[in-house]
Amino acid sequence: MEVKKIGVLGAGIMGAGIAQICAEAGFEVILVDLAEAFVNKGYQNIVKNWTRAVEKGKRSAEELDRFKALITTSVDNKDFKDCDVVIEAIIEDIEVKKKVFKELGDICKDSAILASNTSALSITEIAVASGRPQSVVGMHFFNPVPVMKLVEVIPGAETSEAAVDIITELSRKIGKEPVQARETPGFIVNRILVPYMNEAAMLYQEGVPAEEIDKAMKLGANMPMGPLALADLVGLDTLLMICDYYWREFGDSKYRASLALRNKVRAGHLGRKSGKGFYDYTK
Ligand code: CAA
Ligand code: NAD
Repeated sequence: MEVKKIGVLGAGIMGAGIAQICAEAGFEVILVDLAEAFVNKGYQNIVKNWTRAVEKGKRSAEELDRFKALITTSVDNKDFKDCDVVIEAIIEDIEVKKKVFKELGDICKDSAILASNTSALSITEIAVASGRPQSVVGMHFFNPVPVMKLVEVIPGAETSEAAVDIITELSRKIGKEPVQARETPGFIVNRILVPYMNEAAMLYQEGVPAEEIDKAMKLGANMPMGPLALADLVGLDTLLMICDYYWREFGDSKYRASLALRNKVRAGHLGRKSGKGFYDYTK
């Protein structure tokens, strides 16, 4: 199957980035979220990135116009009906994802591939909910999407080889390097990276200042950014949902979320996206 039109569900941090790079690769894209305000915010973030690239001389004004013409927005999932691939990037909640995949299974054409950008959740469980498990694949991008090279491709128990091949090839076409991962909570990268960020939050809870933790990991382990700044970039709500999922799936106390992380989420401090997290971005 030749992929021409891509649907992206969820216009948050990840969905906007995914829509951006798909348009840059020449695909027709429809970006959908629950409400106009959310989808417009995502679209504006994409345009901001392109405008900055033009200002830096990395893109031409003509390219910007061409990219813009490839993206449409909507608040109605029915607009996915003519998409060849739909990439879901909504909240990391298995029940919400299952509900959405059931809907996508009803709406999308039979040949469409349904991909989930879930950070950790079971692809098989999401796939079964769609009613067409052979067509559902994990397609896990990394934040910031336009910068990070990797896509983890994750087959569920019933995913067809053809669906995996289409998503692997699509990953390459949009400039990413695919790696096939197994269906286990957190796949490869997040199995390692999420406990690392959570451990940093535990240290923070013990009284070590965020700046010291981050400086130490940058200078002592050559990380591009410290673990708490990274947690703020990812979104503390998303990080907590992943930690809680590991805890439920593995039943191992080593995966318990730090109280500092939980309390920040309870306070509505979700990291960069809300203005405050381990750091304050409002100043
Ligand atoms: N969106 C788009 N582009 C961005 C960006 C964003 N949010 N942030 C940075 N960039 C671009 C900049 O425009 C710049 O591009 P050019 O070189 O073309 O000008 C380039 O990235 C470098 O940016 P900066 O010079 O501002 O900053 P930097 O060199 O410090 O890099 C960083 C910033 C890329 C975020 C770097 O700190 C980094 O790699 N951090 C680690 C990111 C990481 O580990 N991500 C994985 C998170 S976990 C995950 O995603 C999985 C999950 O399921 C939770
Ligand atoms: P986000 O909070 O920035 O955005 C989520 C968007 O989904 C919001 O705009 C919200 O309105 C929308 N949404 C929620 N429920 C919806 C529904 N039923 N229908 C349509 N839209 C809905 O979240 P994000 O960081 O972009 O994460 C999205 C997904 O990507 C999650 O599964 C997350 O685990 C995964 N992910 C996140 C990162 C990261 O670093 N943030 C990296 C890789 C994967």
